[in-house]
Amino acid sequence: MPPEARRWRRFTSVFADSVEAAGYECIIPPMFEEIGVFQRLGDATDVVTKEMYDFVDKGDRHIALRPEHTASVCRAFAEHRPVVPWKVWYSGSNFRYEKAQAGRYRQFDQVGVEVLGVDDALLDVEVIALGWEFFQRIGLRKVTLLLNSLGDSGDRERYVSALRAYFEQHRDSLSDEAKLTLERNPLRVLDSKRESDRSVIDGAPTIASFLSDDATAHFGQVCAGLTAIGVPFVVNERLVRGLDYYRRTTFEYVSEALSSAQNAVGGGGRYDGLVEDLGGPATPGIGFALGVDRTLLACDAEEVFSESTGLIDAFIIDVVDGQTALSLSTSLRLAGFVVDRGFDGRSMKSQMKAADRAGARCAVIIGADEHEAGTCTVRNLATSEQITIQQSELATHLATVVGSRTPRRPSS
Ligand code: HAM
Repeated sequence: MPPEARRWRRFTSVFADSVEAAGYECIIPPMFEEIGVFQRLGDATDVVTKEMYDFVDKGDRHIALRPEHTASVCRAFAEHRPVVPWKVWYSGSNFRYEKAQAGRYRQFDQVGVEVLGVDDALLDVEVIALGWEFFQRIGLRKVTLLLNSLGDSGDRERYVSALRAYFEQHRDSLSDEAKLTLERNPLRVLDSKRESDRSVIDGAPTIASFLSDDATAHFGQVCAGLTAIGVPFVVNERLVRGLDYYRRTTFEYVSEALSSAQNAVGGGGRYDGLVEDLGGPATPGIGFALGVDRTLLACDAEEVFSESTGLIDAFIIDVVDGQTALSLSTSLRLAGFVVDRGFDGRSMKSQMKAADRAGARCAVIIGADEHEAGTCTVRNLATSEQITIQQSELATHLATVVGSRTPRRPSS
């Protein structure tokens, strides 16, 4: 609803400006795909096994609403084979059949970036820093960056079997839910937020000792790069993330201003292997997505990035026949101003109220005298000062009150 929707759009445009400054181009993936595209997110993840909005369409295709954007971006890459490095950004809705609660919704929005075709650890640094700097730019100060490496697929496999062995040993102390998760994927047990699982999880082996030399060196370069540009981070070896495609660098931005159950305002990582899974050539990839709904909740909690007011430059009140309001609003809009007007021949008092409600900076009044003389009375609604001028001078006068504007002329 307005005015929240206006803030939402401003959020996306600040994000676009931040990432376009680094050479990312906008991509608009489809809202739904053939379900196989999303099954690549991992058959042991909640997103795939429990949360997919899927259906069979009239042509017998098994379709799913997208639960995230990364798989669609990789599908588009595999299909169209653009030149690498391919740097894209997106914004849009996602759908997950979750237990809805504050900060967790079944339809939620993300903004994010993906880069395909680059192995360099300095790209990880660029991507992670872009997300971090965006949070700083909108004014959030209580965000922490958590960082980890999941190693390469061989490393992950060795770690997963060590974890499985460990959890099997402590099976009796795990919740029923965690026991089921263990059957499917021991890594996911680390995500359990249940108090009863916590002590077992705290004693579990961590990934660091399973990393290959290459993965260790890569992670070292990422940490050094972030330090060099002054982006603070905390290494968290328990950070495994909720999707299965991650390799090597993984990260999450968490907000201390939100309650701990739903405090991740964004996350991402490398997913070397996903493009290949989707039928493309072996291509490294990395990206992140930030939750728009949740980040705005964090903004509310920190009282930053508030709604801007005073969008309307002038509200035209024509109590004669509405025709002068028609011509003046048309020409002022073309001259670049934001202009609204009253309708239905309402009284001066009721149109004045409407101007106030609209948050207009000025009211432009056309009464019988003004109509007769070709003038208008401009009232500054903040100071209550008013002046009567020729209608032909209105644009010039408005510019002195609200600032000059770029005309909206048709392009030639
Ligand atoms: P994700 O961690 O599933 O990652 O989601 C990223 C962010 O989206 C979360 O940190 C959270 O802020 C928001 N989010 C997720 N689910 C919900 C929900 N149900 N309600 C509200 N907000 C939610 C991904 O989606 C990956 N595609 C990120 C990525 C991009 N990795 C590589 N590239």
